[in-house]
Amino acid sequence: MVTEVKLCGVALKNPVVPASGTFGFGLEMAGVYDLNLLGGISLKGSTREARFGNECPRIAETPDGMINSVGLQNPGVDALVNDKIPALRKIYSGAVIANISGFSIEEYVACCEKAAPHCDIVELNVSCPNVHGGGMAFGTDASSAARVTRAAKQACGSTPLFVKLSPNVTDIVSIAKAVEDAGADGLTLINTILGMRIDIRRRTPVVAARYGGFSGRAVFPVALRMVNQVAKACSLPLMGCGGVSSARDVIEMMMAGATAVQVGAENLRNPLVCKQIVEELPALMQSLGIKDLNEIIGIV
Ligand code: SIN
Repeated sequence: MVTEVKLCGVALKNPVVPASGTFGFGLEMAGVYDLNLLGGISLKGSTREARFGNECPRIAETPDGMINSVGLQNPGVDALVNDKIPALRKIYSGAVIANISGFSIEEYVACCEKAAPHCDIVELNVSCPNVHGGGMAFGTDASSAARVTRAAKQACGSTPLFVKLSPNVTDIVSIAKAVEDAGADGLTLINTILGMRIDIRRRTPVVAARYGGFSGRAVFPVALRMVNQVAKACSLPLMGCGGVSSARDVIEMMMAGATAVQVGAENLRNPLVCKQIVEELPALMQSLGIKDLNEIIGIV
């Protein structure tokens, strides 16, 4: 039974990838299970300088999901390339995906130049809804998304560049096409959906930043629909992301058009979920008559 997939020539032993921001730098999870069973790991988003992130509280629960307003807390791109990735490479031989965020095109470029030589794929985060003047501001306008993609691609050299798209747009296909035309090698979709909860006793928003990114099982049908729409319109490989929590969801995402599948919020509810999905996939493939996962990519 074949579970290996390829993203722009990068081999993943299976399509399962913990999503950025839900798995730290991998190292935090090393004592929980052998990371080598994962196809790839998307690391916590890095910016040029270290960031403390947003004011607390920055998490709110929702039925079948959650809202986060972390605000890109991270130790900075130098720590990523000098400490985090080298330490991860010592214990993990799969694909390392560096997620890069920024507040200006210059910052994205500087981070890509530093990260690209040390990782297998750069994932350009133009879709963080939790910061002002950066993140999602780049990913919700087709011409800004194209500009940052073009500059980042040049900075990445031969390292494949995936652009992580925002669902907080009227037409995700037009953004995907703009990014494809600007030279992206692949797309990750979707990032979180802008949401809100209110503390009815305090009469205030639950998260200090008022709004935050909604993710978790509840968003799966939205993510699946967007992956399918983009798969039908673009020819780039896709990493499907959003509400994935089971081997069945992985198969659905692949049938919709994803080559690899990221698991996000569910890692926070069940830290073993990626391991369980990898272990459950072969039996599910057998029951569905799938010999090679590559056969089902985009069949729907
Ligand atoms: C965050 O750090 O705020 C989450 C990252 C993201 O949504 O892209």
